[in-house]
Amino acid sequence: MLIDTYGRVATDLRVSLTDRCNLRCTYCMPEEGLQWLAKPDLLTDDEIVRMVRIAVTELGVKDVRFTGGEPLIRPGLVGIVERCAALEPRPKLSLTTNGLGLQRTAQALRAAGLDRVNVSLDTLRPEVFRTLTRRDRHHDVIAGLDAARAAGLDPIKVNTVLMRGTNDDEAPELLQWALDHSYELRFIEQMPLDAQHGWQRDGMVTADEILTALRSRFDLAPEGETVRGSAPAERWLVNGGPGRVGVIASVTRPFCRACDRTRLTADGQVRNCLFAREESDLRTALRSDAGDAEIAELWKAAMWGKKAGSGLDDPAFLQPERPMSAIGG
Ligand code: 5AD
Ligand code: SF4
Repeated sequence: MLIDTYGRVATDLRVSLTDRCNLRCTYCMPEEGLQWLAKPDLLTDDEIVRMVRIAVTELGVKDVRFTGGEPLIRPGLVGIVERCAALEPRPKLSLTTNGLGLQRTAQALRAAGLDRVNVSLDTLRPEVFRTLTRRDRHHDVIAGLDAARAAGLDPIKVNTVLMRGTNDDEAPELLQWALDHSYELRFIEQMPLDAQHGWQRDGMVTADEILTALRSRFDLAPEGETVRGSAPAERWLVNGGPGRVGVIASVTRPFCRACDRTRLTADGQVRNCLFAREESDLRTALRSDAGDAEIAELWKAAMWGKKAGSGLDDPAFLQPERPMSAIGG
Protein backbone atom coordinates (compact mmCIF):
# COMPACT_ATOMS: atom_id res chain seq x y z
CA MET A 1 0.00 0.00 0.00
CA LEU A 2 1.00 3.58 -0.52
CA ILE A 3 0.48 4.86 2.99
CA ASP A 4 1.83 8.02 4.62
CA THR A 5 2.61 9.04 8.18
CA TYR A 6 -0.89 10.53 8.54
CA GLY A 7 -2.52 7.23 7.66
CA ARG A 8 -3.73 8.26 4.24
CA VAL A 9 -3.64 5.59 1.56
CA ALA A 10 -3.11 6.54 -2.07
CA THR A 11 -5.22 4.48 -4.46
CA ASP A 12 -5.60 7.06 -7.23
CA LEU A 13 -2.67 7.48 -9.62
CA ARG A 14 -2.34 10.48 -11.95
CA VAL A 15 0.05 9.90 -14.81
CA SER A 16 1.24 12.88 -16.82
CA LEU A 17 1.97 11.65 -20.35
CA THR A 18 3.51 14.87 -21.66
CA ASP A 19 4.15 18.39 -20.42
CA ARG A 20 3.28 19.85 -23.81
CA CYS A 21 0.01 21.45 -24.71
CA ASN A 22 -1.73 22.87 -27.73
CA LEU A 23 -3.50 25.58 -25.73
CA ARG A 24 -1.97 28.40 -23.71
CA CYS A 25 -4.49 29.01 -20.92
CA THR A 26 -3.50 32.24 -19.22
CA TYR A 27 -3.79 30.70 -15.74
CA CYS A 28 -1.41 27.93 -16.76
CA MET A 29 1.39 29.01 -19.05
CA PRO A 30 2.76 31.97 -20.99
CA GLU A 31 1.96 32.69 -24.61
CA GLU A 32 5.31 31.39 -25.84
CA GLY A 33 4.90 28.06 -24.06
CA LEU A 34 7.55 26.58 -21.81
CA GLN A 35 10.88 24.83 -22.01
CA TRP A 36 9.48 21.36 -22.69
CA LEU A 37 10.99 18.19 -21.31
CA ALA A 38 13.52 16.60 -23.64
CA LYS A 39 12.39 13.44 -25.41
CA PRO A 40 15.02 11.12 -23.87
CA ASP A 41 13.88 12.21 -20.42
CA LEU A 42 10.28 11.15 -21.03
CA LEU A 43 9.22 7.72 -19.93
CA THR A 44 8.60 5.47 -22.90
CA ASP A 45 5.21 3.81 -23.38
CA ASP A 46 6.69 0.57 -22.00
CA GLU A 47 8.05 2.35 -18.94
CA ILE A 48 4.70 3.99 -18.27
CA VAL A 49 2.82 0.71 -18.53
CA ARG A 50 5.36 -0.92 -16.24
CA MET A 51 4.90 1.81 -13.64
CA VAL A 52 1.12 1.50 -13.83
CA ARG A 53 1.45 -2.27 -13.52
CA ILE A 54 3.59 -1.94 -10.40
CA ALA A 55 1.12 0.56 -8.94
CA VAL A 56 -1.87 -1.66 -9.63
CA THR A 57 -0.46 -5.09 -8.84
CA GLU A 58 1.88 -4.25 -5.96
CA LEU A 59 0.69 -1.01 -4.44
CA GLY A 60 -3.09 -1.12 -4.36
CA VAL A 61 -3.79 1.59 -6.93
CA LYS A 62 -7.36 1.29 -8.24
CA ASP A 63 -7.87 4.37 -10.37
CA VAL A 64 -5.53 5.61 -13.05
CA ARG A 65 -6.01 8.99 -14.68
CA PHE A 66 -3.94 10.12 -17.64
CA THR A 67 -3.19 13.83 -17.76
CA GLY A 68 -0.68 16.21 -19.32
CA GLY A 69 -0.02 18.90 -20.44
CA GLU A 70 -2.42 17.58 -23.01
CA PRO A 71 -2.41 13.76 -23.01
CA LEU A 72 -4.08 13.48 -26.44
CA ILE A 73 -0.91 14.76 -28.06
CA ARG A 74 1.02 11.73 -26.86
CA PRO A 75 1.20 9.43 -29.89
CA GLY A 76 1.05 6.18 -27.90
CA LEU A 77 -1.96 7.09 -25.77
CA VAL A 78 -4.43 4.55 -27.17
CA GLY A 79 -1.91 1.73 -26.80
CA ILE A 80 -1.07 2.76 -23.25
CA VAL A 81 -4.77 2.73 -22.34
CA GLU A 82 -5.24 -0.66 -23.95
CA ARG A 83 -2.32 -2.21 -22.08
CA CYS A 84 -3.40 -0.69 -18.76
CA ALA A 85 -6.93 -2.00 -19.29
CA ALA A 86 -5.49 -5.51 -19.61
CA LEU A 87 -3.90 -5.38 -16.15
CA GLU A 88 -5.23 -7.56 -13.33
CA PRO A 89 -6.89 -6.29 -11.24
CA ARG A 90 -8.16 -3.94 -13.90
CA PRO A 91 -7.89 -0.31 -12.81
CA LYS A 92 -10.56 2.26 -13.65
CA LEU A 93 -9.12 4.40 -16.43
CA SER A 94 -9.85 8.04 -17.03
CA LEU A 95 -8.43 10.96 -18.96
CA THR A 96 -8.23 14.68 -18.30
CA THR A 97 -8.06 16.54 -21.60
CA ASN A 98 -8.65 19.96 -23.11
CA GLY A 99 -10.75 18.18 -25.72
CA LEU A 100 -8.72 19.15 -28.79
CA GLY A 101 -8.50 16.04 -30.94
CA LEU A 102 -10.99 14.11 -28.87
CA GLN A 103 -13.29 14.13 -31.87
CA ARG A 104 -10.81 11.90 -33.69
CA THR A 105 -9.82 9.65 -30.79
CA ALA A 106 -12.81 9.19 -28.48
CA GLN A 107 -14.00 6.02 -30.21
CA ALA A 108 -10.56 4.39 -30.22
CA LEU A 109 -10.00 5.34 -26.59
CA ARG A 110 -13.32 3.84 -25.57
CA ALA A 111 -12.54 0.67 -27.51
CA ALA A 112 -9.15 0.49 -25.80
CA GLY A 113 -10.87 0.48 -22.42
CA LEU A 114 -11.00 4.10 -21.30
CA ASP A 115 -13.89 4.50 -18.83
CA ARG A 116 -14.30 8.23 -18.35
CA VAL A 117 -13.13 11.68 -19.47
CA ASN A 118 -12.86 15.07 -17.87
CA VAL A 119 -12.87 17.81 -20.47
CA SER A 120 -11.66 21.26 -19.54
CA LEU A 121 -13.85 24.08 -20.80
CA ASP A 122 -13.97 27.50 -19.19
CA THR A 123 -16.41 29.37 -21.39
CA LEU A 124 -19.28 29.01 -23.83
CA ARG A 125 -18.17 32.05 -25.80
CA PRO A 126 -15.70 31.40 -28.61
CA GLU A 127 -14.15 34.87 -28.33
CA VAL A 128 -13.65 34.48 -24.57
CA PHE A 129 -12.13 31.06 -25.25
CA ARG A 130 -9.68 32.71 -27.64
CA THR A 131 -8.66 35.26 -24.99
CA LEU A 132 -8.38 32.70 -22.25
CA THR A 133 -6.54 29.93 -24.13
CA ARG A 134 -4.90 32.13 -26.80
CA ARG A 135 -6.19 29.75 -29.47
CA ASP A 136 -9.34 29.91 -31.57
CA ARG A 137 -10.43 26.31 -30.90
CA HIS A 138 -13.73 26.52 -29.02
CA HIS A 139 -15.55 24.54 -31.70
CA ASP A 140 -13.01 21.70 -31.42
CA VAL A 141 -13.72 21.27 -27.73
CA ILE A 142 -17.47 21.14 -28.35
CA ALA A 143 -16.92 18.59 -31.13
CA GLY A 144 -14.72 16.58 -28.76
CA LEU A 145 -17.43 16.54 -26.11
CA ASP A 146 -19.99 15.36 -28.66
CA ALA A 147 -17.61 12.60 -29.76
CA ALA A 148 -17.02 11.51 -26.16
CA ARG A 149 -20.76 11.14 -25.70
CA ALA A 150 -21.18 9.27 -28.97
CA ALA A 151 -18.36 6.92 -27.99
CA GLY A 152 -20.16 5.98 -24.78
CA LEU A 153 -17.75 7.54 -22.30
CA ASP A 154 -19.80 8.11 -19.18
CA PRO A 155 -20.02 10.17 -17.07
CA ILE A 156 -18.53 13.12 -18.92
CA LYS A 157 -17.22 15.72 -16.53
CA VAL A 158 -16.40 19.27 -17.52
CA ASN A 159 -13.78 21.21 -15.54
CA THR A 160 -14.06 24.98 -15.40
CA VAL A 161 -11.72 27.57 -13.93
CA LEU A 162 -13.26 31.01 -13.52
CA MET A 163 -11.03 34.04 -14.01
CA ARG A 164 -12.08 37.40 -12.68
CA GLY A 165 -13.05 39.81 -15.41
CA THR A 166 -12.79 37.14 -18.11
CA ASN A 167 -15.39 34.41 -17.62
CA ASP A 168 -16.54 34.84 -14.02
CA ASP A 169 -19.98 36.01 -15.19
CA GLU A 170 -20.64 32.68 -16.92
CA ALA A 171 -21.18 30.28 -14.02
CA PRO A 172 -24.99 29.98 -14.29
CA GLU A 173 -24.91 29.78 -18.09
CA LEU A 174 -22.28 27.07 -17.98
CA LEU A 175 -24.35 25.10 -15.51
CA GLN A 176 -27.50 25.37 -17.61
CA TRP A 177 -25.56 24.20 -20.65
CA ALA A 178 -24.05 21.28 -18.71
CA LEU A 179 -27.48 20.23 -17.41
CA ASP A 180 -28.91 20.41 -20.94
CA HIS A 181 -26.17 18.08 -22.16
CA SER A 182 -25.98 15.84 -19.08
CA TYR A 183 -22.38 16.78 -18.43
CA GLU A 184 -21.28 16.97 -14.84
CA LEU A 185 -19.80 20.42 -14.36
CA ARG A 186 -17.12 21.06 -11.75
CA PHE A 187 -15.72 24.46 -10.95
CA ILE A 188 -12.10 24.44 -9.80
CA GLU A 189 -10.62 27.29 -7.78
CA GLN A 190 -7.57 28.70 -9.48
CA MET A 191 -4.44 27.40 -7.76
CA PRO A 192 -0.93 28.87 -7.55
CA LEU A 193 0.50 26.44 -10.07
CA ASP A 194 0.90 28.67 -13.10
CA ALA A 195 4.30 28.74 -14.78
CA GLN A 196 4.40 32.54 -14.63
CA HIS A 197 3.82 32.69 -10.87
CA GLY A 198 1.11 35.28 -11.41
CA TRP A 199 -1.51 33.78 -9.08
CA GLN A 200 -2.88 36.08 -6.41
CA ARG A 201 -5.30 35.03 -3.75
CA ASP A 202 -7.53 38.09 -4.13
CA GLY A 203 -7.70 37.58 -7.88
CA MET A 204 -9.09 34.11 -7.44
CA VAL A 205 -12.82 33.47 -7.77
CA THR A 206 -13.73 31.56 -4.61
CA ALA A 207 -16.04 28.60 -4.13
CA ASP A 208 -18.36 30.82 -2.08
CA GLU A 209 -18.63 33.34 -4.89
CA ILE A 210 -19.32 30.59 -7.40
CA LEU A 211 -22.05 29.07 -5.21
CA THR A 212 -23.65 32.48 -4.69
CA ALA A 213 -23.71 33.08 -8.43
CA LEU A 214 -25.23 29.66 -9.09
CA ARG A 215 -27.86 30.12 -6.40
CA SER A 216 -29.15 33.20 -8.21
CA ARG A 217 -30.55 30.83 -10.84
CA PHE A 218 -30.63 27.35 -9.29
CA ASP A 219 -31.61 25.59 -6.13
CA LEU A 220 -28.57 23.73 -4.77
CA ALA A 221 -28.79 21.05 -2.11
CA PRO A 222 -25.76 19.22 -0.73
CA GLU A 223 -25.70 15.77 -2.24
CA GLY A 224 -26.63 13.22 0.40
CA GLU A 225 -25.10 13.74 3.79
CA THR A 226 -22.05 15.20 2.13
CA VAL A 227 -19.52 12.65 3.16
CA ARG A 228 -16.85 14.13 1.02
CA GLY A 229 -14.40 11.27 1.51
CA SER A 230 -11.47 11.62 -0.79
CA ALA A 231 -13.51 13.25 -3.52
CA PRO A 232 -12.21 16.78 -3.81
CA ALA A 233 -15.43 18.07 -5.32
CA GLU A 234 -18.23 19.11 -3.02
CA ARG A 235 -21.27 18.10 -4.98
CA TRP A 236 -24.67 19.69 -5.12
CA LEU A 237 -27.96 18.46 -6.50
CA VAL A 238 -29.38 21.07 -8.84
CA ASN A 239 -33.09 21.85 -8.62
CA GLY A 240 -33.71 18.56 -6.84
CA GLY A 241 -31.59 16.50 -9.27
CA PRO A 242 -30.71 14.40 -11.11
CA GLY A 243 -28.38 17.11 -12.41
CA ARG A 244 -25.38 17.87 -10.23
CA VAL A 245 -22.62 20.40 -9.97
CA GLY A 246 -19.30 20.17 -8.17
CA VAL A 247 -17.03 22.80 -6.70
CA ILE A 248 -13.40 21.97 -6.06
CA ALA A 249 -12.30 24.44 -3.42
CA SER A 250 -8.65 23.48 -3.41
CA VAL A 251 -7.65 26.81 -1.95
CA THR A 252 -10.44 27.93 0.37
CA ARG A 253 -11.54 24.47 1.57
CA PRO A 254 -8.64 22.11 0.99
CA PHE A 255 -9.24 18.39 1.15
CA CYS A 256 -5.71 17.32 2.00
CA ARG A 257 -6.76 15.21 4.98
CA ALA A 258 -8.64 12.87 2.70
CA CYS A 259 -6.20 12.95 -0.21
CA ASP A 260 -5.73 9.59 -1.92
CA ARG A 261 -3.53 10.70 -4.83
CA THR A 262 -0.10 9.74 -6.02
CA ARG A 263 1.39 11.32 -9.12
CA LEU A 264 3.86 10.30 -11.79
CA THR A 265 5.36 12.97 -14.04
CA ALA A 266 6.13 12.40 -17.71
CA ASP A 267 9.83 12.18 -16.83
CA GLY A 268 9.37 9.52 -14.20
CA GLN A 269 9.29 11.44 -10.94
CA VAL A 270 6.82 10.47 -8.23
CA ARG A 271 5.14 13.40 -6.50
CA ASN A 272 3.15 12.86 -3.33
CA CYS A 273 1.29 16.19 -3.64
CA LEU A 274 0.44 18.76 -6.31
CA PHE A 275 2.18 21.34 -4.15
CA ALA A 276 5.16 19.23 -3.08
CA ARG A 277 8.55 20.83 -3.51
CA GLU A 278 10.32 17.48 -3.56
CA GLU A 279 9.98 14.63 -6.01
CA SER A 280 11.33 11.11 -6.06
CA ASP A 281 13.22 9.99 -9.12
CA LEU A 282 12.00 6.55 -10.18
CA ARG A 283 13.23 6.81 -13.74
CA THR A 284 16.82 6.13 -12.74
CA ALA A 285 15.71 2.92 -11.04
CA LEU A 286 13.50 2.01 -14.02
CA ARG A 287 16.47 2.39 -16.33
CA SER A 288 18.84 0.45 -14.13
CA ASP A 289 18.09 -3.21 -13.60
CA ALA A 290 15.84 -2.62 -10.60
CA GLY A 291 13.09 -5.18 -10.24
CA ASP A 292 9.41 -4.37 -9.71
CA ALA A 293 9.66 -4.97 -5.95
CA GLU A 294 12.52 -2.50 -5.65
CA ILE A 295 10.63 0.16 -7.59
CA ALA A 296 7.55 -0.46 -5.46
CA GLU A 297 9.66 0.15 -2.33
CA LEU A 298 10.94 3.45 -3.73
CA TRP A 299 7.38 4.49 -4.52
CA LYS A 300 6.23 3.64 -0.99
CA ALA A 301 9.09 5.67 0.47
CA ALA A 302 8.12 8.62 -1.74
CA MET A 303 4.56 8.55 -0.40
CA TRP A 304 5.55 7.99 3.22
CA GLY A 305 7.07 11.48 3.25
CA LYS A 306 3.84 13.20 2.17
CA LYS A 307 3.15 16.38 4.13
CA ALA A 308 -0.09 16.98 6.02
CA GLY A 309 -1.29 19.64 3.63
CA SER A 310 -0.58 21.89 0.68
CA GLY A 311 0.87 24.64 2.87
CA LEU A 312 -1.10 27.21 0.89
CA ASP A 313 -2.12 29.10 4.01
CA ASP A 314 1.40 29.23 5.37
CA PRO A 315 2.90 32.71 4.84
CA ALA A 316 6.09 30.91 3.82
CA PHE A 317 4.29 29.00 1.03
CA LEU A 318 6.41 28.63 -2.06
CA GLN A 319 5.05 27.44 -5.37
CA PRO A 320 6.51 24.15 -6.57
CA GLU A 321 9.11 24.49 -9.28
CA ARG A 322 7.09 22.47 -11.75
CA PRO A 323 4.00 24.18 -13.11
CA MET A 324 0.65 22.39 -13.32
CA SER A 325 1.21 21.55 -16.97
CA ALA A 326 4.21 19.40 -16.02
CA ILE A 327 2.59 17.81 -12.99
CA GLY A 328 -0.81 16.87 -14.34
CA GLY A 329 -4.20 17.91 -13.02
N1 5AD B 1 -5.61 26.21 -11.05
C1 5AD B 1 -6.71 25.43 -11.15
N2 5AD B 1 -6.94 24.60 -12.17
C2 5AD B 1 -6.02 24.56 -13.13
N3 5AD B 1 -5.97 23.86 -14.25
C3 5AD B 1 -4.82 24.16 -14.90
N4 5AD B 1 -4.12 25.08 -14.21
C4 5AD B 1 -4.85 25.35 -13.10
C5 5AD B 1 -4.67 26.21 -11.99
N5 5AD B 1 -3.59 26.98 -11.88
C6 5AD B 1 -7.03 22.94 -14.63
C7 5AD B 1 -7.27 22.88 -16.09
C8 5AD B 1 -7.78 21.49 -16.27
C9 5AD B 1 -7.19 20.72 -15.14
C10 5AD B 1 -6.14 19.77 -15.58
O1 5AD B 1 -6.66 21.65 -14.24
O2 5AD B 1 -8.22 23.82 -16.49
O3 5AD B 1 -9.17 21.43 -16.17
FE1 SF4 C 1 -3.00 23.27 -21.76
FE2 SF4 C 1 -4.41 22.51 -19.68
FE3 SF4 C 1 -2.48 24.33 -19.37
FE4 SF4 C 1 -4.72 24.97 -20.72
S1 SF4 C 1 -4.58 24.41 -18.53
S2 SF4 C 1 -2.59 25.41 -21.37
S3 SF4 C 1 -5.25 23.09 -21.71
S4 SF4 C 1 -2.17 22.21 -19.94
